Amino acid sequence: MVQLATLDKLPLAGKRVFIRVDFNVPLTEKGAVADNTRIREALPTLQYALDQRAKVIVASHLGRPKGKVDPALSLKPVLAELGKLVGKDVRMAPNCIGSAVEEEVGRLAAGEVLLLENLRFHAEEEKNDPAFARSLAALADVYVNDAFGSSHRAHASVVGMVGHFAHRGVGLLMQKEIGALSRLLDKPERPFAVLLGGAKVSDKVGLIRGLLSRASTIAIGGAMAYTLQSAQGVAVGKSRVEADKIDEAKKMLDEAASRNVEILLPQDHVVVTALASGTPFSITPGREIPSDRLGDDIGPKTVAAFVAAFREARTVFRNGPMGVFEMAPFDRGTRAIADAMATIRGFSVVGGGDTVAAITKAGLAEKFSHVSTGGGASLEFLENGDLPGLAALRASS
Ligand code: 3PG
Repeated sequence: MVQLATLDKLPLAGKRVFIRVDFNVPLTEKGAVADNTRIREALPTLQYALDQRAKVIVASHLGRPKGKVDPALSLKPVLAELGKLVGKDVRMAPNCIGSAVEEEVGRLAAGEVLLLENLRFHAEEEKNDPAFARSLAALADVYVNDAFGSSHRAHASVVGMVGHFAHRGVGLLMQKEIGALSRLLDKPERPFAVLLGGAKVSDKVGLIRGLLSRASTIAIGGAMAYTLQSAQGVAVGKSRVEADKIDEAKKMLDEAASRNVEILLPQDHVVVTALASGTPFSITPGREIPSDRLGDDIGPKTVAAFVAAFREARTVFRNGPMGVFEMAPFDRGTRAIADAMATIRGFSVVGGGDTVAAITKAGLAEKFSHVSTGGGASLEFLENGDLPGLAALRASS
């Protein structure tokens, strides 16, 4: 496999360097940056390029503006945050392509930073449009992909523009992400426990298949567990089930059994008659959920069983909430697992947007060996061992 060039192999001094970052950060209702993790994580690359006296052009998407200018999704709030974190004035271009942007780039001196406006204000970005990709590429001499969280998207700034550069490579965040996630794929130290949650089996089937040849135990909570429980013929009451995925769930359970991978499903459930905050809840004594109830969290026996499974593990990967964690008190299972995971002594990785947000909010991020900045990207990397953005960097121009 062609090696990806790292920053130290790229000619940066005095060059216009296009750095694709993932500044798709959550905003507050007033439009300020609510969580600056992704900006902080990109700083080492930006600082390295600035130290090398590069002319740094920073590009990202924010949200899903559907190809139209949406002032609520401007990168202006990110500009303020970025300036603070880089410790110097950062200019912002009014667009990401076009003559006004080219003029701004022309005025950029070595050691300065220019932030482009939201790439997704142009529908051509998501369409990976060749002309749009060419216009982006015309802005710079060197291309750096440090947007791990976006590299599963075959978009113009991630894939299309890359082939225009003789000098291209990965940033320090990308290297860190690949390094940590590759440890899960490449002979992970065993026992290797995986803890998955979230609503849909369909979102995780590929990931589970990818992990079956590596993991010792896969513990599954969240609504996806109801589909699996249903596939085993155990009553799930009114719980959310993907009826069209039952067959796939059965196959997955059979495959796990034939590979000697232990699949742990909930032993008990927190159940309600209807899902609303403040609804009285009860805990089932066993796996069955009565016909007039629906599950919304894992119960205490399940928490204990899941914790016991990963406490002894040498490698742990965690993704997805265990219940309706955005609605207290149905966040208890998710929180209990996060607290317990923070005491693991082995190599621990957390991936996925919601899971990471919950862990950061609880102040537990420091306790893990690696907290991925990628949601879909971390899952796709673990499924395929590669991402379109990385393949584009390796492809011959
Ligand atoms: C993310 O937040 O997962 C990435 O920035 C990708 O965003 P998207 O799902 O809107 O493509």
